[in-house]
This record gives sequence, C-alpha cells and structure tokens, in this order.
Amino acid sequence: MPDAQKVNSMFARIASRYDLANRMLSFGIDRMWRDRLVDEVEARKPRAVVDLATGSGDVAFALRQDLARDTRVVGLDFCAPMIEEAKRKQLRFNEPAIEFGIGDIFDLPLEDGCANAVTISFGYRNLQDRHQGLLEIHRILDSEDGRVFILEFSQPYTLYRPFYYFYLKRVLPLIARIITGDLEAYQYLCGSIESFPGREGVTAELENAGFKNIQAIPMALGSVALHIGQA
Ligand SMILES: C[S@@+](CC[C@H](N)C(=O)[O-])C[C@H]1O[C@@H](n2cnc3c(N)ncnc32)[C@H](O)[C@@H]1O
Repeated sequence: MPDAQKVNSMFARIASRYDLANRMLSFGIDRMWRDRLVDEVEARKPRAVVDLATGSGDVAFALRQDLARDTRVVGLDFCAPMIEEAKRKQLRFNEPAIEFGIGDIFDLPLEDGCANAVTISFGYRNLQDRHQGLLEIHRILDSEDGRVFILEFSQPYTLYRPFYYFYLKRVLPLIARIITGDLEAYQYLCGSIESFPGREGVTAELENAGFKNIQAIPMALGSVALHIGQA
C-alpha cells in the first residue's frame, strides 16, 4: 500500500509540471478519459459534486464547465502545492465558482450525505487504505441518489499488455524525467499501476464498502477504467 506521506511529498515535487507531464505522457488522451467521466456525472444531474484528489483541478474545471451553474462543485486534495496549482488556474480561467481546498480523503471536511456525486480521477490507486477511503466517500454521499465515479488505471486486455508495460516501464520514466526532473515519481507510477487490481477487483472493493449497481467501463484497451457505484 502506498505511504501517504511519501505520496504527498511526491505530488508536491511535481505539482508545477504535473499538467504538462499528463498531456505528453498520455499523448493528450487523458482529456478524453476525464471528459467521459464528466459526461457520466452530467447525465445524473447532481446538485453537489465533490472532486477528491483533485490535484491541479482538471476534472473540477471540466465539471464546472458542463454542469448547471447552480450545481455546487468542490475540489479537495491533501497536497497543498497541488491545490495552489488549481487555484492559480482558477484565477487564469476566471472561474471562481469552484470551492478548492485542502482535504484528506480519510477525514473529509464535509457533512454526511452532502454530495450527489463524488469523483476521483487517478487518485484512488494512491490511497494508503482504499477500503477506508471508500467508507469515507460513502459517508458524504446522499443515501438516496449519491454515486461515486472512479477513473483509474486498470489492467489492459491480454494482447495489449506487453506493449503497454514496455511503454510504462521503459519509455515513460525517461520522458517523465525530462519533463519533471523526477524519475522516482514516475517509477512509483509504474509500480502502482502494475500492482493495482483490474476491473473485477475494483468492483469487489466497491461492493465490500457497501456500493451497489456497480458499472465498470473499460477505456484505452482496458488500461483505464471508469467505475460507477451507487451509495
Ligand atoms: C495522479 S493525481 C490526480 C489528480 C487529478 N485528479 C487528475 O485527474 O489529474 C493524484 C492526486 O491524489 C492526491 N491524493 C493522494 N492521496 C490523497 C488523500 N489521502 N487525500 C486527498 N488527496 C490525495 C495527490 O495529492 C494527487 O494530487
């Protein structure tokens, strides 16, 4: 399981170059994955959405752009430099209607049942205790219509697997080192993806935490998946 302190300081180190690295390492496809997540949230017309592990806020900005103006959008992350990055973008985009703040998934500064949707994009894999994280997410979801949307790396389809892991282990760390100057952070990324469960495993984790009607939507030949679960 990832160590929370190490994860926090790793994201603090790469915060200022995080967006650039994302675009280059995924060849820009990461935008399409986040757009799919936002489309699924939008279809449920939530009144309040919390984007956890929001990082530099890409999902929160996309939600703000697509959801009704009276929908509350909150973005929380436990890494201060990441939230500073999100707030800098908020000024640049002149988009004040997102509540960015510091928040640890294991102890959220939010009331029970306050959200109709919780999104977490490429953050679930980094949690020290995923079960505890899911219980805390369940707590803040509305028991009537609340849903969690987890966008995360997954295990690719068998034939694609060798090519994917070759890119991930041999090519990506080298490019990432050039962009961010931080080889260790991207070696961590590869290890954490390889040891992360596939769609059946994440579905079981959601069920164990009390979520129902779980959908697992594969993307990018299975290397990414969107899980949706009802509280
Ligand atoms: C890979 S980034 C994802 C950022 C953003 N959601 C995106 O899609 O680009 C993972 C984020 O999870 C955050 N994170 C990890 N553990 C966390 C925790 N326990 N509570 C809140 N944020 C956490 C990190 O600080 C980091 O910003």
